[in-house]
Amino acid sequence: MQPDLGKVYLVGAGPGDPGLLTLKGKALLECADVVVYDALISPQILTMINPQAEQIPAGKRRGRHSLGQSEITQLLVEKAKTEAIVVRLKGGDPFVFGRGGEEMQELVGAGVSVEVVPGVTSGIAAPAYAKIPLTHRDYSSSVTFVTGHESAGKYRPEVNWQAIAHGSETIVIYMGIHNLPYIVPQLLTAGLSPETPVALIRWGTFPEQEELVGTLSTIVTQVEAVAFEAPAIVVIGSVVNLRAILSGNS
Ligand SMILES: C[S@@+](CC[C@H](N)C(=O)[O-])C[C@H]1O[C@@H](n2cnc3c(N)ncnc32)[C@H](O)[C@@H]1O
Repeated sequence: MQPDLGKVYLVGAGPGDPGLLTLKGKALLECADVVVYDALISPQILTMINPQAEQIPAGKRRGRHSLGQSEITQLLVEKAKTEAIVVRLKGGDPFVFGRGGEEMQELVGAGVSVEVVPGVTSGIAAPAYAKIPLTHRDYSSSVTFVTGHESAGKYRPEVNWQAIAHGSETIVIYMGIHNLPYIVPQLLTAGLSPETPVALIRWGTFPEQEELVGTLSTIVTQVEAVAFEAPAIVVIGSVVNLRAILSGNS
């Protein structure tokens, strides 16, 4: 470890609602020298940043990259050479489909000291705000978190949808909206019932949160009909039916 380097904190900002930022994350924002932040961070969380800190947007949205992954890592290494507290603020939890592991690997490789501050992940928070418990003693004793983002030149191992279909009672898919026309037939071929309930939660925990509920046989048509867009979490399984009960609608 090089003694003259500062420290990089990989901080999870949570899914959107500023109240879901951890106390440790907030304290670091308040004393940071530099904050490099992602696209889906709530503007209210950005107001918590030390006014003297340099603020650098590094946001990624589908098809639009303001800074490439290697540029971000290079930037963090450079900043750690001159500043004491460098915060890398990431949506949700840094280690859940947030490339936090990859960034930390490169930073550690460059001799930079790194600490992770976990965040509330959208795959848990968005269903919770939609009144969908991911486990329930009567309906589900297991959950799978999986990426639905499988594009050409993908960097992750291929998702085994056959195994996912049978691996747990609840399936939570990140980055799955655009691939639903591919994912749903995979799950049906694997043997899931067409009547399996599905909920999509968009902008979960933000004031703009929207939900779309259907079944495996209807959801793709529903998404097309209302042009339901990312960022959204997909929840599949009978726990989705609890939403109506917990909302007092049944
Ligand atoms: C690159 S992943 C980052 C996940 C993040 N690290 C986390 O723990 O929530 C981005 C995906 O997370 C999901 N996501 C993030 N924030 C969300 C929100 N507020 N509501 C619904 N989905 C969200 C969407 O599936 C989106 O496409």
